[in-house]
Amino acid sequence: MEIDVVAGPPEGVEADVLVFAVPDPVSLPQAALALDRLVEGRLSHLVEDGELRGEQGSVTLLHSEGRVAAHRIGAAGLGNGASVDADRFRTAAAAAATRTGDVGGRSIAWIVAPEGPLSAAEQARAIVDGTTMGPYEPGRWKTNGDLQPQIERLLICGEGADEAADEARRAAVVARWTNRCRDLVNAPPNELTPARMAEWADATLGAAGLAFEVLGPDEILAAKMGALAAVSQGSDNAPRLMTIRHEPEGARSDMVLGLVGKAITFDAGGLSLKPAERMEEMKSDMGGGAAVLAATGAIAELGLPLRVLTVVPACENMPGGHAYRPGDIITALNGKTIEVTNTDAEGRLILADALWHARSSGATHILDLATLTGAMVVAMGDYYAGLFGNDESWTGEIRAAAEESGDHVWVWPLHDTYRRFIESTFADLKNSSEHRQGSPILAARFLQEFVGEGPWAHLDIAGTAYLERGRGDYYRGSGATGFGVRLIAELARRLSA
Ligand code: BES
Ligand code: MN
Ligand code: ZN
Repeated sequence: MEIDVVAGPPEGVEADVLVFAVPDPVSLPQAALALDRLVEGRLSHLVEDGELRGEQGSVTLLHSEGRVAAHRIGAAGLGNGASVDADRFRTAAAAAATRTGDVGGRSIAWIVAPEGPLSAAEQARAIVDGTTMGPYEPGRWKTNGDLQPQIERLLICGEGADEAADEARRAAVVARWTNRCRDLVNAPPNELTPARMAEWADATLGAAGLAFEVLGPDEILAAKMGALAAVSQGSDNAPRLMTIRHEPEGARSDMVLGLVGKAITFDAGGLSLKPAERMEEMKSDMGGGAAVLAATGAIAELGLPLRVLTVVPACENMPGGHAYRPGDIITALNGKTIEVTNTDAEGRLILADALWHARSSGATHILDLATLTGAMVVAMGDYYAGLFGNDESWTGEIRAAAEESGDHVWVWPLHDTYRRFIESTFADLKNSSEHRQGSPILAARFLQEFVGEGPWAHLDIAGTAYLERGRGDYYRGSGATGFGVRLIAELARRLSA
């Protein structure tokens, strides 16, 4: 999608649909009142008759009959005017994009307005997100080609639009990488094996100018990544450990951002086999890895002057004659021994080695993303990811970036008292507790054993990376959300400013 910011009055902008936002209850913004005069009061007639509404998702179209340069005028509902935020704009933009596609339109001009709580730049950014992410089509594997048409051109106009130009272009880069992340996560596990994921990263991130390194099964063993090796050994699809470096000139010298993402390309649970119901959704268990890869691509394309070290352990968790067992004791890269009490608690194992690898390769500040626990889905649902960390100022940075990006997080506790639940009789620790209580916290507490010295934060994205059903907002349908890409890009921008 091509993005442009255009100066001058909205009535002169050529597009298939010229869109403005309306709150509920409806009040036409200044820019819409000007259009209303040009179309001889037709917009206010629609308001009077209750046909032009401000509810979230509502889009009212009116043919302009040549009275403005755009073919149609559209009003997109923002919902309750008292609580308008960026997500409401994202949803309004997604609805406008979908509707535009449905009537055969390919270009949209969006009017940002000085009224309301969001600046022109904030509105533009949300509009770019919604227009790019809203019409996203997960049905790539359908042979009938009946796919949602995409918007080819987005123009931002209205008062203050010129100040929003940089923000809109940056948002477009990040939203594109977010959709690439969604493509990876939606890909079926027979196509997206660890090797294929590494090939994707090599090709895609290589093209973005990043240095890419990959270890195969023998090298993983030789490197003494015993936890990653153990989880991988049950599958015929061999593991990969990817390391990507962004080393731009002029980067600050006191920080290397370490990004670590869980990439289980399919989680059957191993010998602690999962139930059959919804097991197909476990193709999304590489959502953390996909997010950090795509975010690294976005950081490189934006040319952010920040050193980044991205580590993605990728493997499958399968049962079988070669699979690791409950009762096995394995040795992680940092030398700690782990008693495996549940082979379905595999994410923390592969992260154990990846986190230590990231720290020992120079990461000063670490953020990991993982679809780690089912209990996180139960606890937080599909809107907030759980944030854990060992350093308040670091988790504070991540919270602030999250809020602004649209990838929302909620802070969880991580107290040492929880350590006793992963105490093992035989080894340094065990990978799961026989108690179900506090499972996301125990998982995070386990990871903490492998992060070394320095700030670290962990995002449990089990509920937010992949939706069983649409969220009723700009995530219209089920499937991958690309959670984390916008958050990390925003974090990196703040850290490099
Ligand atoms: N990948 C799952 C977590 C998950 C479940 C993500 C549902 C998304 C939706 C993870 O590997 C897992 O199986 N976790 C177990 C851990 C338990 C055995 C300690 C869980 O949460 O049940
Ligand atoms: Mn599992
Ligand atoms: Zn898993």
